[in-house]
Amino acid sequence: MAKAIRFFELNTGAKIPSIGLGTWQADPGVVAEAVTTATKAGYRHIDCAQAYYNEKEIGTALQKLFSEGVVKREDLWITSKLWCTDHAPEDVPKAIDRTLENLQLEYLDLYLIHWPVSMKKGSVGFKPENLTQPDIPSTWKAMEALYRSGKARAIGVSNFSSKKLGDLLDIVEVPPAVNQVECHPHWQQGKLREFCKSKGIHLSGYSPLGSPGKDSIKTNILKNPAVTTTAEKLGKTPAQVALRWGLQTGHSVLPKSTNEGRIKANFDVFDWSIPDDLFCKFSEISQEKLIKGTGFVHETLGAYKTVEELWDGEV
Ligand code: A2P
Repeated sequence: MAKAIRFFELNTGAKIPSIGLGTWQADPGVVAEAVTTATKAGYRHIDCAQAYYNEKEIGTALQKLFSEGVVKREDLWITSKLWCTDHAPEDVPKAIDRTLENLQLEYLDLYLIHWPVSMKKGSVGFKPENLTQPDIPSTWKAMEALYRSGKARAIGVSNFSSKKLGDLLDIVEVPPAVNQVECHPHWQQGKLREFCKSKGIHLSGYSPLGSPGKDSIKTNILKNPAVTTTAEKLGKTPAQVALRWGLQTGHSVLPKSTNEGRIKANFDVFDWSIPDDLFCKFSEISQEKLIKGTGFVHETLGAYKTVEELWDGEV
């Protein structure tokens, strides 16, 4: 019997499952198995994106899970994201239609603007010459139309700083329900978290384990003493502790794994907690943003000359 999952309530009234399977860098050849394993283990939330190039394989897995009666569509939470090449208002509905077709779904539970960055239509890769000037208000209007059409039951953003979120809130008719950002014990997002809370926007944490497998990332949060000491004291793994820290801090977590044992272990975060005396040690952990978005920054092209500009100093 799968463990009972917990939820966070969004400003739409919908309940987002507090743990979702991340699928960034899950190879197309193994992602279907990962989604199937996760769903059978009790996950009810899959975090997808067009830019992960694996939505078709996820769609095949979901269809099989539905047809075999493992889970009903209405009991699953599926998130996907609008890529930077599709920000033009006329491209937004086409992009969600493509994603829905690949995922073999009628609607998404949540659709996010993936980055506050835009790129030339049809361009591929992170070449500076592909960067263009984003017009977030126009893109957001098109997102609101998707919300009203029912194709996206909630809409939101990803990788938005407090400032960019504030600017967006100034022009919305439908406020974003979620801001999905990097969040883990080494990058706790204190300022952004407070801002989101004050505006009723749910923060969802990607790379909650600090992306330990990514070559460019040298800091391993799973080896941080506050994390390992807590893990030893509680008889849990460092990964479980990092995820539980996220849940106790008040945000949903999206760990990626394609390994059966780790997928199952990462879900074992509900029937225990980090006691206050250990939890408070996490506030002493040095802070370092691991995913900086350097590919979106250029001194003359695009909207952001520096990483500081991209994140409005929250870096
Ligand atoms: P794998 O897919 O082989 O399990 P994040 O979600 O922070 O981006 O981290 C994802 C990375 O962490 C992947 O490389 C994933 O590899 C690895 N990972 C997932 N779960 C665990 C775990 N429980 N312990 C250690 N590494 C993990």
